[in-house]
Amino acid sequence: MRPFRKFMSLMLAGVLIAGLSSCSNQVRTDISVPSLTDNATKKEISKTENETTGTTPSETDNRFGKAVVVYFSCTGTTRDVASKIASVAGCPSYEIVAAKPYTADDLNYNNKKSRAAKEQNDASARPEISGSITDWSSYDTVFLGYPIWFAKSPRILCTFVESQDFTGKTVIPFCTSGSSGIGNSAEELKALAKNNGKWVNGTRFSSSVKEKDITEWLSAMKEAGDI
Ligand SMILES: Cc1cc2nc3c(=O)[nH]c(=O)nc-3n(C[C@H](O)[C@H](O)[C@H](O)COP(=O)(O)O)c2cc1C
Repeated sequence: MRPFRKFMSLMLAGVLIAGLSSCSNQVRTDISVPSLTDNATKKEISKTENETTGTTPSETDNRFGKAVVVYFSCTGTTRDVASKIASVAGCPSYEIVAAKPYTADDLNYNNKKSRAAKEQNDASARPEISGSITDWSSYDTVFLGYPIWFAKSPRILCTFVESQDFTGKTVIPFCTSGSSGIGNSAEELKALAKNNGKWVNGTRFSSSVKEKDITEWLSAMKEAGDI
């Protein structure tokens, strides 16, 4: 190689090495410990949360099999509780929707002639449901939620349980109410389901229930061997 070319080659190599080393410094700073640290921190936080709740969605799947939260709600209270249960149990939810929606007048419990009052006074009333749940046969655990209407489940729950086969399923009834307990509303539904499935004792939740309370409720049922 001629002296000039050799000189140029050496210069070029020097420039490249300097460039690479400065890039590599820059990359190290940019990849940045902060983003790694962030990830590590996130992992720690989620680990702590999981330890607090004692559950993760995948653990929940194992604990409750394939679960679904089925609920009916007119003014949102049961819907909120159902959503918390679905979140804690890591499962989907299905809302029972009335083909003919309930108006405020329909729900007036002070009026004996309101739609709700008349339905609740008629043991044969079966309000029609709009649509239907898909993949019913694939679920083995069903959380079944409803508001208490005149100490019972709304008649549309009768429509639902009579239209489904609960054989082989574990049913976990829950309700919301102004103050009443769940009473024997779940037993009545179980009878309408031809006593198919394993129905655990029902639970009443207040509108202020927290996900932490639901986690404890599920753990207690698990420990008792109910589910
Ligand atoms: C027609 C009707 C009857 C009700 N009867 C009772 C009852 O017997 N006892 C009670 O504590 N609350 C009763 N409530 C209050 C509801 O159970 C309570 O507001 C419930 O949380 C509503 O749920 P939702 O918002 O999911 O529809 C009644 C409400 C309605 C509309």
